Parts: sequence; C-alpha cells; structure tokens
Amino acid sequence: MVQPNVNKKTNNNNNKVITKSIHSNKGKFELKKKPVQLQQISNDKINDNNNLKNQLEIPKEIPKEIKLQKESLPVFTAKDALLKNFKEHSTVIIISETGTGKTTQIPQYLYENGYKDNGIIAITQPRRVAAVSISKRVSQEMGVELGDQVGYCVRFDDKTNEKTKLKYMTDGMLVREAMLDSSLSKYSVIILDEAHERTLNTDVLFGLLKSIQKRREKKNPLKIIIMSATLDAELFSQYFNNAPVLYIEGRQFPVQIYYTEEIQKDYVDAALITVLQIHIAHLTDKSINKEEEEDGGDILVFLTGRDEIENLEKLLLDRIPRLPVGSKDLIVCPIFSALPQEQQMKVFEKAPKGSRKVILATNIAETSLTINGIRYVVDSGAVKSKIFNPKIGIDSLNIIPISKASAKQRTGRAGREFEGKCYRLYTQETFEKLDTSSIPEIKRSNIANVILQLKTIGINDILSFDFLESPPVASVIKSLELLFCLDAISDNGSLTELGKKMALFPLDPMYSKTLIKSIEFECSEEVLIIISILSVESIFFTPKEKKKEVEDVKKIFFSPDGDHITFLNVFREFQKSKPQQQQQWCFDHFINLKSMIKVLNVFEQLVKYCISLKLPIVSCGSDFDRIKKSFIGGFFLNTAILQPDKKYKTMVDNKEIQIHPTSFLFDQKPQHILYNELTITTKAFARNIIPIEGSWLAEICPKYYGTRLTKQQQQQQQQNSIQSIDTFKN
Ligand code: CDP
Ligand code: MG
Repeated sequence: MVQPNVNKKTNNNNNKVITKSIHSNKGKFELKKKPVQLQQISNDKINDNNNLKNQLEIPKEIPKEIKLQKESLPVFTAKDALLKNFKEHSTVIIISETGTGKTTQIPQYLYENGYKDNGIIAITQPRRVAAVSISKRVSQEMGVELGDQVGYCVRFDDKTNEKTKLKYMTDGMLVREAMLDSSLSKYSVIILDEAHERTLNTDVLFGLLKSIQKRREKKNPLKIIIMSATLDAELFSQYFNNAPVLYIEGRQFPVQIYYTEEIQKDYVDAALITVLQIHIAHLTDKSINKEEEEDGGDILVFLTGRDEIENLEKLLLDRIPRLPVGSKDLIVCPIFSALPQEQQMKVFEKAPKGSRKVILATNIAETSLTINGIRYVVDSGAVKSKIFNPKIGIDSLNIIPISKASAKQRTGRAGREFEGKCYRLYTQETFEKLDTSSIPEIKRSNIANVILQLKTIGINDILSFDFLESPPVASVIKSLELLFCLDAISDNGSLTELGKKMALFPLDPMYSKTLIKSIEFECSEEVLIIISILSVESIFFTPKEKKKEVEDVKKIFFSPDGDHITFLNVFREFQKSKPQQQQQWCFDHFINLKSMIKVLNVFEQLVKYCISLKLPIVSCGSDFDRIKKSFIGGFFLNTAILQPDKKYKTMVDNKEIQIHPTSFLFDQKPQHILYNELTITTKAFARNIIPIEGSWLAEICPKYYGTRLTKQQQQQQQQNSIQSIDTFKN
C-alpha cells in the first residue's frame, strides 16, 4: 500500500483556535463588551413556572437520555442569560462553536418561553439537508410528530401545518415567502442560523429583515437572532445598530494536525489510504486506547460532492473485504443532499460495538450538522463553489481550495467530544497560502434571481438596497443584462409581466423562462417533466460492479436528441408501469425509485403553479425541436460549438469545454450544444446536454444573438469549410 507521508504538527499558531483546550463540561457565557470576564450561569435560575407549563404542553414523554443530553449541551448553562437578552433586545447575535446546541436548543427555549404565542419561530438554514434532519431531531426531543408543532419547509417539500410553531426552513424559502408577504407578519422570531456561511439568500435576508423589523416596530414587533459559528460578529453587530453579541463557549479538545509532505494529485485516493491507515492503526500502534476508540472513533472525510463521495465509497467497499485479520468492521456512510433522507439519518446512528463509521461528507458537516463520535477528520482541502463570471454572465461550479477558516472548522470536528486527529491532505505550505476566509456568495454569484425577487417585493433600485456587503457593480450590471435578455425586465429596469410570472416559480430565472417559453412552443408538459428531473440531481444509480449492465440498460432510453429527451423517455416508461410494478421496474432499469417519486412530486407542484397562473399544459408529442427551442429561451448563454479537435468552445467567450462522460451525447459530438450546467475541475465539463441548431439562437433570442451571431456564424462557416476540406483530403 502506498503510504502518504504525513508530517505531524501540534498546537502551532495556525490551529490556535481549534486546538484551544477547554476540558470543561459546563458552557461559559459572556457578554461581548466584557470579553475577559466570563460569567457562569447557574441552572437554578431556570424559571420553574415555565418548566411546568412546558411539561403540560408536551404530548409524549421525553426519554430520559434525551433530557440528559439536552442538559449536557454547553448552551443549556446559558439559557437564562439568553432569554434575558432576547427580552431586552430586538436583535441579538449569538456566536459559538459547532455542537454547542444553538440550532436544536435555542428555538426550543423560545418555544417554551412564550415566543410562540405571537407567531411562528423560523430558523433558516443554508442547506436543505440540515433543515430536514435538524427539525426531525427537534421533533423527537420535544416528543411531537414532525410536521406538527415542529416542521420544515424546503423547496418542493413543505412539512408544516397550522400547528407548526418551530419552522426550520432554507433561507431561500424565507426570501420566497417575503415575496408573498413583504412583512413576514406570521413570524414572531426569525433566527438566521449559520450566518457565517454568508449565503446569497442569508445576505438578502439581512437587508429584508432589518427593514421589516423597523416597519413592524410599533405593531407586531419582530425579533431577529443571528447565529454564527465564527468570531467575525462585528460586521453583523454594526449592521444591526450595535446589537449585543453573546458568546457561548463550546467544548473543544486538542486536535493534532497532520499535513502531507507532498502535494497530493488525487485527494480521493489519498483519502482512501488515510482512512485505511487510521482504521488499522490500532493493530500496530499500541498507544491507541481501544476502549476510548470504542466510545467514539469515527472518521469524517470532507470531499466536494456526490461524485467524489460515491467514488470513495466504492473504493472503500472494494477494500473492506481485504482488511487485515483483527480489524474492526468499517461502515461507510455517505451524506450529500441528493441522498434519500433515511440514508442521510444513518450518519447520526451510533456505530455498533466492534465497528467504526466512516462518514463521507460535503462541507455540510463543516458547521451545519453536528455528528457525534468523530475522533478523526480527513480534509481534502477542497470545496465545490458556484462562481459567476461577470464578464460573460455565466455561473459555473468550481472545485476550489478551502479557506483557512474552513480548514479550522473542519479540524474542529475531530475535537468536540474527545482529543482527536485531523489529517489534512495538503502540505503545510499550501495551508499557509490559503485565503483567510471564504468570499461571501454575494461577491461571487449571479444575482439575477435576487434582483428578480427584490423587484417583486418592490425594491427596484438594487444598488441602493441596504446590503450587509454590496455585490460588485459589474455583477449587478451583468445580472440586469441577463434579466433584460430573458425579457424579465424592460429597458428601464422595471419588471415585465413575464418577469412577474417568472418570479413566482420556485426556479432560477433561466429555468422559469424556459418553462414560460415552452407554453409558446406548445411543449410545456415535456419541459415540466424535464425540469422536474433536472431538479433531483440524478435518477440513475450505478451499483458497484454492474457498470456494463447499467450502460446496456441505459441504451434503451437513449435519444440522439439529447440528455433531456433521454430523461423524458425514462419518465414516460416509468409512467407506463403500474404503481405496484414501479419498484421492480426501477430495479431492473437501474433507476432510483425514490428520485422518481421526488420527480413526480416536483412535477405535480410545478403543474399547480402553472394552473394558478393559467398557463396551459400541452404536449408536443415527438416534436422535440420545440423542447430544444424552449431551453434556448432560458439557457441561450450556455451554448457551445464543436471544434475540429472534437472539443467545444463556448459561444459567449470562446472557452474550451468538454461534454461530461456521464452525458448520453459524450460519443455523439453534435455541432452545436446547449448545456444546463458547467463544472470546472481540472477541465471544464458541460452536463445535461441537448443538440441545437445554431440558427435558432438569433431567432429565439434576438436581443443577445441578433447582431453577434452573424460574426459567430461566419466563423463557424469558415471552420466547417476547413473541416470539409480536411475530410476530402483524407
Ligand atoms: O447548532 P450547533 O452546532 O451549536 O449544535 P446543534 O446542531 O444544536 O447540535 C447539538 C447536539 O445535537 C449535538 O450533540 C448533535 O450531535 C445533536 N444532534 C443529533 O444527535 N442528531 C441530529 N440530527 C442533530 C443534532
Ligand atoms: Mg447549528
């Protein structure tokens, strides 16, 4: 086995924060203005009346271990002081390390102390997985059914009812709700959780909530709580008129950090070796305390996305049968957003005696989800990030190095319950060169959707909106230009009728435009199906060692008209099978049944939106050109032309891209393609592809291609003639 060279580093300056050793079982609490004086809050201050009231309202008996676990969290000792501050201030900022109990406990404290009587308590999360799994946990802690007093609301999945008082939701859903009720009047408290992540939607909510709070000051006051896992709270506090910042000290045991001696070309492979080394270390290293490991010896690996996670899962499963005698069982638990919920919940289950869990996660496990039992962290040093190129107006998903702040957070996950180890799959030199913190999304993203939403709320002048940090002017201009080309805004910047409709769909403007265009091209049924399929990441699954069989089965659905039509074929065939046969049908065709059920659900919801907007749902039969033309209506910027070397160049900026091997068109190489997604790793890969006719571009999007296509066409014609001469010569 190849041994990566690891270079041990402990408690150096770079990991000062995370290796700070606090062997305390009690949380400490401190008001910001007096940073040196730590104020210990005692439990006996808890209001007994309130406790009694709560017990009466809790329908099921809460298991003793849950009660003990809740009371052992650092946030518990700060409960009284927190409630006092909530009472005295309209906005409060809370900072504490991951795992302190902020997300699960603070909403319950509010619930138990009267805040639910004036309205719903919302807790926003940047990620849907976190909203779903944490609400599930909180409903268990409170002994209620998920969807009753405690619920969640994420795109295309609303599990709340009229009883719901604690509502975990994605930040994007709350922005959408503000479009329907610009005062968010049904909420008494809004908690913006994971504020340090600075997602685009959370940043927009900062501005919206600040103005809503002012408007609601006299009647129906709104309480705002900002929660963050990092210390840069000054910005938040200043923005909210010097709101108090409360620190809750978490537990953090020392973590030894190891770096690789050399740069690793393939961090998935390096992760494989490192995980196996950790797993079998106790066979040779007598200093490892087996009993301690039995209490918690799980490994958490940070990768960038589903592909890498599935790849490492496969590599590990291949190796597990060949582990040396005496090794424990190794249970592989992947977690990423497209994974079915039951499987996501598996990461929280304790590993059975004599076994060890290895969790393969995206940066969801960095601060959003706290998983118990982690002693080892393996950090790839990379993250997948959406980046907007304001020169051309296109988003791409790029795999980029993490920031120092992220590296420290990841390391911290190994030291929450006991002393741990963190294996950074990069050199110390690389670490030193990392950016201090990640760039907030608003500074690197396409903000067309935000502009459309703000305009719907009535905020027309984007540049003068009270942002926590403003987006770059170049992004604003390019995003406005995109909305203009999509016919969502007029030349004076006001929303068009079409723009108003687009904003109502829970879709990015490029998708909502495609959908509306499909009404004109009379293929809305097919486009609705395709968009529903694209919303679930992947409907296929490839069992290990069955790659060839999967490829053969996939051929049944293949359409030379592109991935979208191939997906449509799958859906149509699925629809043909009777409900009781669907499970078998999916199994036989390597289709993920749960994904298909999700697709049906999204489809039904989108149909409802269309009906409410009186948009007709019509089928184009097999006239697939209509579907392609509809997609050009939304994705006219995502187009590319084939080059003589069989690679592609984008039409908007002449950059080289390739068709991703998972595309059904990988071997086909049509002349012009349209793609829905661009992923940039070492190369730029386009995914979800349909072939189009170059001449359709100016026809469908004259605002963008009217003048420029002539030049492009000329170039293309030139190329075509060179190619035909070459062919002739051969
Ligand atoms: O928000 P913060 O990072 O401060 O902590 P939290 O998410 O409220 O987590 C508090 C505790 O709840 C941790 O010990 C988690 O492991 C536990 N938890 C759990 O056991 N299962 C979940 N699904 C979510 C949290
Ligand atoms: Mg949290």
